[in-house]
Amino acid sequence: MTSHQPISDLDRMRGEYAQRSQYARDNKYTFFNQSYLFTIQQRQRAILRSLRQAGITSLENINILEIGCGKGRVLLEFLQYGATVTNLHGIDLLPERLHQAQDLIGQVPVICADGQRLPFAANSHDLVIQFTAFSSILDAEIKRKMAAEMVRVLKPSGSILWYDFWINPTNPQTKGIGKAEIKAYFPNCRYAFQKLTLAPPLARKLVPFSWSLAATLERLQMLNTHYLAMITPLA
Ligand SMILES: C[S@@+](CC[C@H](N)C(=O)[O-])C[C@H]1O[C@@H](n2cnc3c(N)ncnc32)[C@H](O)[C@@H]1O
Repeated sequence: MTSHQPISDLDRMRGEYAQRSQYARDNKYTFFNQSYLFTIQQRQRAILRSLRQAGITSLENINILEIGCGKGRVLLEFLQYGATVTNLHGIDLLPERLHQAQDLIGQVPVICADGQRLPFAANSHDLVIQFTAFSSILDAEIKRKMAAEMVRVLKPSGSILWYDFWINPTNPQTKGIGKAEIKAYFPNCRYAFQKLTLAPPLARKLVPFSWSLAATLERLQMLNTHYLAMITPLA
């Protein structure tokens, strides 16, 4: 594995994901958990709306790359939206998470690589996506280099789809990223931002009581913790 992330930072991330696996065993991230189902379904609707607004109504002939694909759950969603195993790729720093991705999404090529040095040619992808990878990195310089790489591998007509939280007061192993910081990582772009995802502690309480009330609150956006953004470099 070629990594340019300091070893201590890698160890920190490994510890963090070991902890999250415990949450998974606690059934926090399962579709039988109503608030998790709510969060993912709301996000799916928003992603498909963003793609439609960007003029993308089929993923069949679109080259898609996910940076920090982890266990492959987002790649699996993109397969469900119509991407194919030949036009979908993922990279992640941690081999153990990629093994889990391989178990989940079989033939989709996932590569162990550092987002700061993507093993892809310039101008090779139509859509580069990142879902909560940036917030798991504490060093701003690493995030800046990853963003530059995402833009490098993007075709001139391509876009970046960003989903990450801007606030997470409960976990010091992550760092929320606001609009200004996103714009600083991706200068000279057109941005379509949407505040998404009802704060998970609130969703866990509210969704089992009333799905529609949770959906109404999420629509108001005030208690939402993430940004979904379509970022399109200007020519
Ligand atoms: C919170 S997980 C998100 C996984 C996946 N995107 C999802 O939403 O299910 C963040 C992932 O980013 C990866 N990551 C962090 N820094 C990275 C880097 N410099 N290069 C590649 N992947 C990285 C981590 O190993 C981890 O798997």
